[in-house]
Parts: sequence; C-alpha cells; structure tokens
Amino acid sequence: MSQTLFTNATIACLDGESGYGLRENGALLVEAEKIAWLGPMQDSPATGAAEVVDCKGRLLTPGLIDCHSHLVYGGDRADEFEMRLEGASYAEIARQGGGILSTVNATRAASEAELFEQVLPRLRTLLDEGVTTLEIKSGYGLDSDNEIKMLRVARHLQSELQLRIQKTFLGAHALPPEYTDRSDAYIELVCAEMLPNAHAEGLVDAVDVFIESIAFSREQGAKVLDCAQALGLPFKAHVEQLSDLGGALMAASKGALSVDHIEYLNDADVTRLAQSDTVAVLLPGAFYQLRETQVPPLAALRAERVPIALATDANPGSSPIHSILLIMNMACTLFRMTPTEALRGITINAARALGLDQEIGSLEIGKQADIVLWNVDRPSMLSYQVGINPCAGVMQAGQWRSKPATSS
Ligand code: NIG
Ligand code: FE
Repeated sequence: MSQTLFTNATIACLDGESGYGLRENGALLVEAEKIAWLGPMQDSPATGAAEVVDCKGRLLTPGLIDCHSHLVYGGDRADEFEMRLEGASYAEIARQGGGILSTVNATRAASEAELFEQVLPRLRTLLDEGVTTLEIKSGYGLDSDNEIKMLRVARHLQSELQLRIQKTFLGAHALPPEYTDRSDAYIELVCAEMLPNAHAEGLVDAVDVFIESIAFSREQGAKVLDCAQALGLPFKAHVEQLSDLGGALMAASKGALSVDHIEYLNDADVTRLAQSDTVAVLLPGAFYQLRETQVPPLAALRAERVPIALATDANPGSSPIHSILLIMNMACTLFRMTPTEALRGITINAARALGLDQEIGSLEIGKQADIVLWNVDRPSMLSYQVGINPCAGVMQAGQWRSKPATSS
C-alpha cells in the first residue's frame, strides 16, 4: 500500500463547526487513497513510509471544492459585457433573447468534442489552484440531446483528468425559443423526458433550477424539484439572485442541498432556512461582474448559523471567472466575509453543498486524501492576496496530481 507522510506542517483541518481547525507542527499520513493518521509531529507514527514530504512549516488544506459552475458551454458573451457597460442590464439582455439563450445557440452548434476542447483552458486555473472537486451544470442545451451532450462532456472530463466532477442537470435554466409563451409545457418536458433521459444514462448527480422573473416561477421550480425527488436525486436551486420570489424557502423546505446566489433573500426566510440542512452558496463572482449592489444577508446567515459555501459560478455571462482564490478574496472584500469563512466556504461547507461531506472537505482520519500544500504559513494568506498562486502541490485521492518540488 502506498504511503505518504507529511511532516512539519501547519494543518488547516476544517474539522470543527467553526474556525480553521489549525494544527501547528503537525504530521499527516496518507495510506492508499485515505488519510490514515494526523496529529502532532512528536506523535507521528513510525512508518516505513515510502515518501516523506517535509512541509517546513507550510500550510496543508483539504483539496478545494468549487460547488457551483457552468464550465461547459459554447462561445462567449464578450459582446454582452460591452453592452452592459453601455447601460443595458443583464435582465434586459436576457429578455431580448441574448444572455443564457445566446449561449444556448452556441452550445447547440458545438459538437461534444468541440465543447470538450473549449472547456480545458477554463479548467486550468482551477486545477492549478488546488481544486480537487468541481460541480458542472448543464443548462445551455435546453433539449434532451443537448443537455445530455453537455453532461457527457462533464463525464469525459472526469475520466480524462485527475479531478472529481459532480454533474448537475439544469434543464430548467431558461425557456428555449421553441417554447416561447409555453413555459409550463417546457417544465413538463423537463420532468417527463429530459431529466429521466439524462438520469437513465447515469449522467445526473443532482438537479438544479433557475427561479427568477427571467427564468421560472417558484411553482414551476417546485415541480422540477419534486421530479428530482421522485427519481431519488438530490437537488438545489438558483434563487433570489435578482429578486425575492421565495425560492430559497421552497427549495429548503423540500430538503435542497443548497440554495445559491440569494442576494435578495430576506432575513425572515433566513431564519426559516436555518431549520433545514440546506447550505447557502454565495457567488461573489456574479455579484461583481453584474455590478450588483444588494449584498446577501450575511448577518442573518451568521446569526442563524446557516453553513455558507462559496463558488466561482464560472459561466460565460454573469461570472466569467475561473479562479477560486479570487472568489475567496471577493467574498472578503465584497461581502465582508472573514478569511476563515472563505476557506470553510470552499472546503467543508462546499462539500456539504454537494452532499459529499462524509468523504471530502476536511482533513480527518478516514476521509479521502485530497490535500493541497501551499507556499504560505497561514490560511488567511489564501484570501488576502490576488494574482499570486501559492499552490505548491496537489494530492487527489492519495495520488499526486502535481508534486511539490521538495518531496523525497
Ligand atoms: O448562476 N443565474 C442563472 N444562471 C447563471 C448565469 C448563466 C448565464 O448568464 O449564462 C448564474 O449566474
Ligand atoms: Fe449559476
């Protein structure tokens, strides 16, 4: 069995209900794909470990988790970026048939192989920054074949790269042009055909829906989530991004893994949300890119102890942002989150948002050995600086994906 012993490490375990779970002068033993032991240096087990990595005081964290992305898509929306800078709003562009629908056209026109080629450079920064688990949504196909095509690309990435991918079906992302003025009929199609077809191919780990005036109503969203539940699939929702339609509470009351965006979520609903196990996923990249001014209800989320995750929301429209480290910094500067909350948001709370917190998201004995070694000595460094990538090495399920230069 392969063994790796990390010595002289500052370990951010993320194992408690708050804080970093920091262990100074620590050691951590990996056996096969799991964490076999961790504790103080002086207690480290005498092993004939084949490999010893002297961390020299540097930081170890769990592999980073990006729990909300739309990374697979065709084309780009740079022209709409220009239009928004000239005064058009995101919602106006969407109502005129641009926005998500312009990406739908480009995605439908691209082959599976072309989409695969296009996604690779977008993934590079995430991989280089220590992301070991990534959620990818469909939602730019909006018919059975094209949604399946997108999810196959996500599956292909999982088989080609050393990375765990969670595939989310987002057929109810926007109303396709074929269904103009027939949104109930489209929701019917999503539930009766599109989702079951994708699920039958084993392509669906979870189901998502966009509840918003430019997308679907709360009632339509509820139908989609009920269909997911009937198939035994976990679900989540894009809610309260541009207005308060009560989507978060509806999704949470049904048992959603997460409610995402939530800038317009009201404090009373946060209190009710706290009765569920649902995670609040904040997406500062979309807030930034859309020059949103309504900040999510951080004070209420904290007061009610709702777990908060962060993600890139990487997509061609509202968040063409592919750096999870930048997202940590944005969460701190734009939402006034603490660096501790930011790191929890892309590790243990992101794992919860994907329903994977028994396996990943923290450094604990028995968990999968997804581990990042950083060229910094404190976790706050990860949120604090922008444009420097201090990632020194990444281990995925006990295998080096990129090996630190110093290991022997
Ligand atoms: O999370 N809000 C809906 N969906 C995406 C945006 C998709 C797009 O603009 O292409 C989001 O922001
Ligand atoms: Fe999104």
